[in-house]
Amino acid sequence: MGVESVRPLRLGVNIDHVATIRNARGGEHPDPVRAAHAAAAAGADGITAHLREDRRHIRDRDIEMLMNEIGLPLNLEMAATEEMLAIALHHKPHASCIVPERREEVTTEGGLDAAGQHNHLQPFVSRLADTGIRVSLFINADQRQLDAALSLGAPVVELHTGAYCEAWLEGDDARFREELDRLTVAAAYGTSLGLEVHAGHGLTFDTVTPVASILDFAELNIGHFLIGEAIFGGLDSTIKRMRALMNKARAEAMGSRSA
Ligand code: PXP
Repeated sequence: MGVESVRPLRLGVNIDHVATIRNARGGEHPDPVRAAHAAAAAGADGITAHLREDRRHIRDRDIEMLMNEIGLPLNLEMAATEEMLAIALHHKPHASCIVPERREEVTTEGGLDAAGQHNHLQPFVSRLADTGIRVSLFINADQRQLDAALSLGAPVVELHTGAYCEAWLEGDDARFREELDRLTVAAAYGTSLGLEVHAGHGLTFDTVTPVASILDFAELNIGHFLIGEAIFGGLDSTIKRMRALMNKARAEAMGSRSA
């Protein structure tokens, strides 16, 4: 990709775990909508929320409030089920990211099998897109899955960064480089297909820089780390620091590309 065509890197802040803390006690505090406003003020470009089948964090009312009250685009993460489709078609968020979902998992463990589930996913992608919702598929960094996203007509993919972050946590340098390489190659391939490529899952201050340096990424979606770190540093300064790391990485990568 030429430097002149590089887009700025957007930050989507996932506020699910503000709702996790609220739900631990019931009641209204802390309020994910307030967190969304704070994220906007700190420089987020979008808000991401995952309405899970079991409503373990974000609830239906949160989606309604986020749609009514926040100025930023909402990215609704959802499983490909009729229930979630009806909710998305009702609210018409800016974007819907289709994710695999298993009730017993702690978080979204792997990417969607867009290739293997083509026939199941097609009506979901089509019906969301027909309503003007920007459809994204959360997939592993794998050429076959990117080809499947293209053939399904999804304009956006989000590459799962979980394996990359795990390799960093385990201190496995070889695997870390391998996973980073996989992301780099897949992001370039997705761009070459005309897809907009996002990334997310497990990103932290320590792992964001190499990913933000990949110029093919247009957006990073980050949640758990930001909300957890906000306990120590506050949401505003935590998001600002993440933004600054992303901006620095992107500026340096663009500089080395044009040098
Ligand atoms: N992107 C997608 C599609 C996700 O499912 C999640 C987790 O909900 C994230 C990004 C954010 O991951 P994390 O909370 O680990 O930053």
